[in-house]
Amino acid sequence: MASVILRNVLKRYDETEVLRDVNLDIGDGEFVVFVGPSGCGKTTLMRMIAGLEDISAGDLTIDGTRMNDVPPAKRGIAMVFQSYALYPHMTLYDNMAFGLKLAGAKKPEIDAAVKNAAKILHIDHLLDRKPKQLSGGQRQRVAIGRAITRKPKVFLFDEPLSNLDAALRVKMRLEFARLHDELKTTMIYVTHDQVEAMTLADKIVVLSAGNVEQVGSPNRLYHAPANRFVAGFIGSPKMNFLDGVVQQVASDGIVVRYETGETQKVAVEARGAREGDKVTVGIRPEHLHVGTGDYGVSAKAMTVESLGDAAYLYAESPVAPDGLIARIPPLERHERGEVMKLGATPDHCHLFDANGQAFERRFAQELAA
Ligand SMILES: Nc1ncnc2c1ncn2[C@@H]1O[C@H](COP(=O)(O)OP(=O)(O)OP(=O)(O)O)[C@@H](O)[C@H]1O
Ligand SMILES: [Mg+2]
Repeated sequence: MASVILRNVLKRYDETEVLRDVNLDIGDGEFVVFVGPSGCGKTTLMRMIAGLEDISAGDLTIDGTRMNDVPPAKRGIAMVFQSYALYPHMTLYDNMAFGLKLAGAKKPEIDAAVKNAAKILHIDHLLDRKPKQLSGGQRQRVAIGRAITRKPKVFLFDEPLSNLDAALRVKMRLEFARLHDELKTTMIYVTHDQVEAMTLADKIVVLSAGNVEQVGSPNRLYHAPANRFVAGFIGSPKMNFLDGVVQQVASDGIVVRYETGETQKVAVEARGAREGDKVTVGIRPEHLHVGTGDYGVSAKAMTVESLGDAAYLYAESPVAPDGLIARIPPLERHERGEVMKLGATPDHCHLFDANGQAFERRFAQELAA
């Protein structure tokens, strides 16, 4: 077990900076998830921690020791890649024993480590098989098992479930949660899957184009995103954004006027906002309601997508360039072209200034622990 600390870490390939000003404190035993759009630097950051990429500037400390110049094998980490190559001609047992054998471990020690890992991962009945005799999920577990036998201080997982089908992903997601509970080892995990990030992480790191946008608990990122990027990235379907200007700064929030002349009150701290300032209201699909209350904007229904347990209404409005999405009861019907008012209660709204920085929400504290 170990903490991982990054200070002002920068990565450059030739002239191109692909990561900058990365400052992260990963606590001993924490489960940390990196998310961000493709190409934002998640794999690069992980490979720098593993020692597979040089660190161009800044400091990496693992378990209190500066690691910048320590070779990968001496860092006490184990990495499981997206494409987890197993040796096809070896049994599962030998696949899992391989790393320890290379390291010169004695037979009884290897045997105990392999059996322990196999038991944790529920593959102890498969140890005589070869990889081709396994399902994708079982193969995945062997790759993780190989990492466990090395008893690392830190696990690095780069999109470990992306090759699996939806049902198996759910199963393996629960296995990861259990694995972390049992081993209590520091884990860093990259995923494109919102549900994996929200459910597994103690702490999520949101990256965009080489910058850390926000670090926080899943609830904090969901209920109190620091900026428009994080607000739009965390949550699916994504948050609605409606452009307007500050009409009035009141003691209990800000009234925003849309170009249609309609308004939306937002319960945020005013933080220097002035009448006429350009702002963007953010409302999650589950909070955007049809036709109720004083606040909202008129919109034109486009289509309804029914998912069985819920339905999503897609609508158009000139104040929302990306369109609007509202979660509605499963059996609610709307005609294409129907004009309706879409709005939310002030407590459920987010507000961003012209630079995309969030105003502090008045009621987000208890949600965003
Ligand atoms: N060896 C390299 N030389 C030059 N540029 C590189 C190299 N490796 C990665 N990059 C660039 O660094 C950036 C970050 O890449 P990285 O693989 O870390 O992204 P990622 O967040 O893991 O993306 P994905 O979600 O698609 O896996 C990209 O713009 C990529 O093109
Ligand atoms: Mg990657």
